[in-house]
Amino acid sequence: MNLDPIQEAARAQFARQSANYGKGHTLENIEDVIAAAAQMTLPPGARVLDVAAANGHTGLYFASLGHRVILADIAAPMLERARELAAERGLAVETREHPAEALPYPGASFDLVTCRVAAHHFSSPEAFVRESARVLKPGGWFLLIDNSVEDGDPVAEDWIHQVDKLHDASHVRALAPAAWRALCAAAGLEVQSTALTPFKQPNLQWYFDTSATPEEARRKTRELIAHAPEEARRAFHLTEEPDGNVTWEWPRLTLIARKAASV
Ligand SMILES: C[S@@+](CC[C@H](N)C(=O)[O-])C[C@H]1O[C@@H](n2cnc3c(N)ncnc32)[C@H](O)[C@@H]1O
Repeated sequence: MNLDPIQEAARAQFARQSANYGKGHTLENIEDVIAAAAQMTLPPGARVLDVAAANGHTGLYFASLGHRVILADIAAPMLERARELAAERGLAVETREHPAEALPYPGASFDLVTCRVAAHHFSSPEAFVRESARVLKPGGWFLLIDNSVEDGDPVAEDWIHQVDKLHDASHVRALAPAAWRALCAAAGLEVQSTALTPFKQPNLQWYFDTSATPEEARRKTRELIAHAPEEARRAFHLTEEPDGNVTWEWPRLTLIARKAASV
């Protein structure tokens, strides 16, 4: 695999942390995926590509519905864990190791491309959306779920960007819905719906531990939280507990789009 420096940083970070993303991770709660799936109509045995699948929570749900799923990720150890989880659940899936920005499939291969809570790590969201549109069949569905912020709230957007960067150097940027809509339009995907839902994040300590955040970055994150601007407090429902822990809710975007049937 030819990786750019951002992809290489993400691969290294997630390969190290792969054991943390299975059972017990907040991503195991797939209510957001179930709600989105209810808004899409897929043929029986649909071909599904789950991009940046990690331990496979999203793709395994579609496999459990009887669809033919490829779980793809840039970090091989993530896919090993995903295969273990699939085997435990008696689900047959294929796994492929490649970046989101260059999909090694012919055009018009899939009925659905999914990508959940990962795109903020991509070196090129443009290339990812363009590639997703290319590999979708005409009329195929695109489901993007990712951390986001309300449109027109640059202060909150910058604040969470700084927090995320400290927590994980492989982080690139969480985009607001309007930016995703523009990328979809440019790639020939018709956006059907976008919705932001507050999602209760685990507390700060868990967040540090899951990503093995270095001590200095933890200190700086606490400072950012202590001095958070009003916009960020409002956007992320920040609460500092008396014991020093922090609870917060992050807006999570669900975007559903469709490739035009006549393309
Ligand atoms: C938080 S996990 C994704 C969770 C998963 N989609 C789910 O629903 O449980 C983020 C994943 O993105 C992958 N990743 C990061 N950058 C990537 C890229 N450029 N291409 C493909 N995968 C990438 C990481 O290896 C990691 O497994």
